[in-house]
Amino acid sequence: MNKTAVVRCEHFNSAHRLHNKNWSDAKNKEVFGKCNNPNFHGHNYELEVKVIGDIDPETGYVMDMKVLSDIIKAKVLDRFDHKNLNLDTVEFRDLNPTAENIAVIIFNLLKSELNANLELKIKLYETPRNYVEYPY
Ligand code: NI
Repeated sequence: MNKTAVVRCEHFNSAHRLHNKNWSDAKNKEVFGKCNNPNFHGHNYELEVKVIGDIDPETGYVMDMKVLSDIIKAKVLDRFDHKNLNLDTVEFRDLNPTAENIAVIIFNLLKSELNANLELKIKLYETPRNYVEYPY
């Protein structure tokens, strides 16, 4: 079959603090450094959503990119853009908002919205030099 990947690039800004509440302040500072700053800090996240599937012979699409864009906006951007991930979202109330965990949460939020025969991969840039992939 003509298995092909389509990729939608999106962007959001969020604040966060990396912190393990089961650890002492000293250990948190030692492990997370500046990212443990109690008053939070922000990132410009770049998100790449890759959808893999067969090209539909009738439309010529793997999936309609407008539909994909609308799903990402509704499920991810409206939820996380210009938010404090620790304080403003239920997803990270008890989950450390590392890029790894954010990527897994985004995967789960989007997967349930996609046709079951489509494969999904998430790439999330926290800085231009650091990104995570899920699944890898
Ligand atoms: Ni950070």
